[in-house]
Amino acid sequence: MSEPTWTSEKLRRLVHREIGDYRLIVVSNRQPYIHELIEGKMHIASPAGGLTTAIDPLMQECGGTWVAYGGGEGDLYAVDEKNRIQVPSDDPSYTLRLVWLTQQEQQGYYNGFSNEGLWPLCHNAFIEPTFQTSDWHTYKSVNSVFAKQVLDEVDGRPAAVFTQDYHLALLPRMLRQADPTIITGQFWHIPWPTYEIFRICPWGDQLLDGLLGNDLLGFHIGDHCNNFMEAAARVLGARVHDEYNVVYQNEEPTLVRPFPISVDFEHVSQESQSQEVTDEMGRVMEEMDLGGKVVGLGIDRIDYTKGIPHRIRAIGRFFEVYPDYIGKVVFVQAGVMSRTKIDAYQHLSAEIDEELKAVNDRFGTGNWLPIIYLPDNLSAVTLAALRRIARFCVVSSLHDGMNLVAKEYVASRFDEDGVLILSPFTGAASELTDALIVNPYATDDFADAIRDAVIMPHKERRERMVRMRNVVEENNIFKWAARLFVDMMQGTRRARRPIRSF
Ligand code: G6P
Repeated sequence: MSEPTWTSEKLRRLVHREIGDYRLIVVSNRQPYIHELIEGKMHIASPAGGLTTAIDPLMQECGGTWVAYGGGEGDLYAVDEKNRIQVPSDDPSYTLRLVWLTQQEQQGYYNGFSNEGLWPLCHNAFIEPTFQTSDWHTYKSVNSVFAKQVLDEVDGRPAAVFTQDYHLALLPRMLRQADPTIITGQFWHIPWPTYEIFRICPWGDQLLDGLLGNDLLGFHIGDHCNNFMEAAARVLGARVHDEYNVVYQNEEPTLVRPFPISVDFEHVSQESQSQEVTDEMGRVMEEMDLGGKVVGLGIDRIDYTKGIPHRIRAIGRFFEVYPDYIGKVVFVQAGVMSRTKIDAYQHLSAEIDEELKAVNDRFGTGNWLPIIYLPDNLSAVTLAALRRIARFCVVSSLHDGMNLVAKEYVASRFDEDGVLILSPFTGAASELTDALIVNPYATDDFADAIRDAVIMPHKERRERMVRMRNVVEENNIFKWAARLFVDMMQGTRRARRPIRSF
């Protein structure tokens, strides 16, 4: 029998039951609310990416403190003398504590080791990782800056610290060394590479040891867990108990488990039905002249892992092979600029502009363009309107831990319509099997998948969408959080009992 759907209320009750005297502290690089100063006025923005989408609803339910880097120009003015602020501002439910970093620290730790080293190492996108010794030293020292702040927040009291992602791989070991009573859990939001790739990292042993300071380590899918365990065994000689997914380093266990992340299905579905979104649909349709056309949609952080040039090429191929659709199908590509100081991202941006121009110049007629590119940070309401307008949504990642855009599209289609075209190289593909799964490198197949989406009869669209909605509704963000939380609080206490050799 399947579990009943997880709700925020159910999660809240579970957290209260499990947490006891412990305080919950979440740590990540990126903060959930960025305070920006625009023309002297304070604006609050939510950053793009799966991390905030997933963890903010959890924190809103559970309370506690979220420790993150204060990257907004207005952050310094928003916090109190302990660098804390209650968020969200309209209905505060938890504490955000900000950590300050110098530009040099940001460069070495964030742009350098995290995003020029670990990000390409963990994603198969054929971008060579760069490993600079100075960046590595900065990464280590910034991890210890975070550790100090977290320990100050813990202040010797019982605490469970839930660390996020690849920016903070060394933090758990640092916390455990300083205070072995802290329960440590971490979720790695991106893929974990195979051993052959992982061993490229010159400091792989130290990264693994840092992560094995966790009681619980979560990945999106089983393959990433297996890759991690293989690396731990082969690089560190750690003992791996396959059957229970436990790695023992220095006789200390780390549970390594898959937890496929998700979205707040109910919230996305409800918001999508609001009058505001309906009004915005009308405005967008008119402004972009979408009336009477079949609309396709892409929403991405502009990142080379997302396969955006591949998608544009496939759209070009679609119009080449199926010219009847010229003037009748429009693809709207929404984007959020990302990590713009890094060369690879600047090259990508130029490549996208070039590919777009080629397709739009070749097929555009009069006032119709095959692709409308909106690389601006569109509002949540406009994005929701686009999701409802779109007959099909394309997620063509070359490699992606999960990809929440796919799940958001499904959750927003309360009308049970719409087709999802999805790359098999996303974590989401193992759950959303009713999507049209297509390899983004196979341009001809990709073009055919676009055509299949355009001509798919309403009955089939509906059947597929209903099944996908059931999957996302059942496996929502609250279920993700509940499973992780239970394993972190219960499983880890069990696992810390003295262990037998095997
Ligand atoms: C991915 C990562 C997150 C990150 C997000 C946005 O989803 O897993 O940790 O926050 O991308 O990237 P950024 O570099 O802007 O924080």
